Amino acid sequence: MHNHWFEEEGIDGKYVPFEIDPNRLEEAVRGMKALNFTGWNVTIPFKEAIIPLLDQVEEDAKLIGAVNTVINQQGKLIGSNTDGAGFVESLYEKRTLKEIQQSSILLIGAGGAAKGIFHALAKLEPAHLAVANRTEERALSLIQSIKTNKKAQAITIRECEKLLSTFDIVINTTSVGMFPHVENMPIDVTKMKNCTLAADIIYNPLETAFLREAKKHGADTLNGVGMFVHQGALAFHQWTGTNPDTDKAVSRITKQLGGTSC
Ligand code: ATR
Repeated sequence: MHNHWFEEEGIDGKYVPFEIDPNRLEEAVRGMKALNFTGWNVTIPFKEAIIPLLDQVEEDAKLIGAVNTVINQQGKLIGSNTDGAGFVESLYEKRTLKEIQQSSILLIGAGGAAKGIFHALAKLEPAHLAVANRTEERALSLIQSIKTNKKAQAITIRECEKLLSTFDIVINTTSVGMFPHVENMPIDVTKMKNCTLAADIIYNPLETAFLREAKKHGADTLNGVGMFVHQGALAFHQWTGTNPDTDKAVSRITKQLGGTSC
């Protein structure tokens, strides 16, 4: 995706993957700094571990406790997190800011991905925000640690299934339904109402069992390709100052994953 963007934007750059020994992260960061890299993304298992190795961490990333993007400004390493904002950008393809603010939103999951999305959504001040997770204490500790929305509620999976018709937007942030366990679903969607937007951050498969079943109940759906593209575009913008073509990237990736549209 990034290399297509470099080409499209006429920028002399390259995006390359590096697999780093977990015991040598500090050395790797020093090496990338010495080689004058413009920036990089950080993924599992280093999103937290990289924080003490940076010169500055933006407030949102500090609050979430995870960095996915680093920019090297003349030797000063600045960390941020574009995951939550990337999700919100993709959500704008389906709902306006006003609609989001009038929505009752259910987030399923309380892991790393949920944290970033919770914080980004809470900043938009939706009418109601609830988090349901298999391990209930984790949902509670998520809303307590990220105090962006003081009215947010932690509920059980059973409660959220019972209350499902009260939610306008339902987002799966868990890995349930991801390839190869494609028939698994994070919740039962029997009570989903037909004007709900069901979103999944999974993009392999493009249509998870959760989205497929939600669709059967008349819901509108959004898969994880948009979030993937937008979190990348926000990082790309930090490094290059350009806004790459995200629509084209969504189509290209959707096609690569065997689909015809998002
Ligand atoms: P990530 O950084 O991708 O969010 P994570 O922090 O390990 O990964 O979080 C994974 C999320 O998926 C959690 O909400 C987890 O629920 P628990 O907190 O109960 O572990 C959820 N999850 C993973 N596998 C699950 C399963 N089989 N059933 C229900 N929830 C699951």
